[in-house]
Amino acid sequence: MIRVLFVCLGNICRSPMAEAVFKKMVRDEQLEEKIFVDSAGTSDWHVGKPPHQGTVAKLNEYGISTEGMRGRQLQKEDYDQFDYIIGMDASNIEAIRHIFQTNDDTKIMRLLDLTDDKKDVPDPYFTGDFQETYDLVTKGCRKLLEKIKREHRL
Ligand code: 4NP
Repeated sequence: MIRVLFVCLGNICRSPMAEAVFKKMVRDEQLEEKIFVDSAGTSDWHVGKPPHQGTVAKLNEYGISTEGMRGRQLQKEDYDQFDYIIGMDASNIEAIRHIFQTNDDTKIMRLLDLTDDKKDVPDPYFTGDFQETYDLVTKGCRKLLEKIKREHRL
């Protein structure tokens, strides 16, 4: 099983959005037996909470369910459990490396570094623009799936 973990600060806006979008892409390509997808936050602020209402509403608009999703905090143990650890912005990457106590730059990457944008995914918790975030997350997730398919000959 190839294991993918999306990480943001709160695990209620961006990383659950990426998790749900990516799971749908994986399902649409019938790769769900091969690729496992999860998300986590670097903070413990929203542990056990469902995704933000803005994330839920935006995903529902695109026919993507968030049922059963709950916030969890990134654990040191996640480093060995996942093959692709995808942060949403530069400060997430810093916090991820701090939690894992590693400078790894092979499996830890920033989502939009996989695209031509090479920038942070804006945090809609502060911008209020869930559409912009959805569009960028979707673009990054497409590139990530291409990369995984290429690297694993799927
Ligand atoms: P996320 O957004 O990291 O995309 O889940 C945030 C959610 C909550 C907070 C900050 C960012 N907060 O300050 O509670």
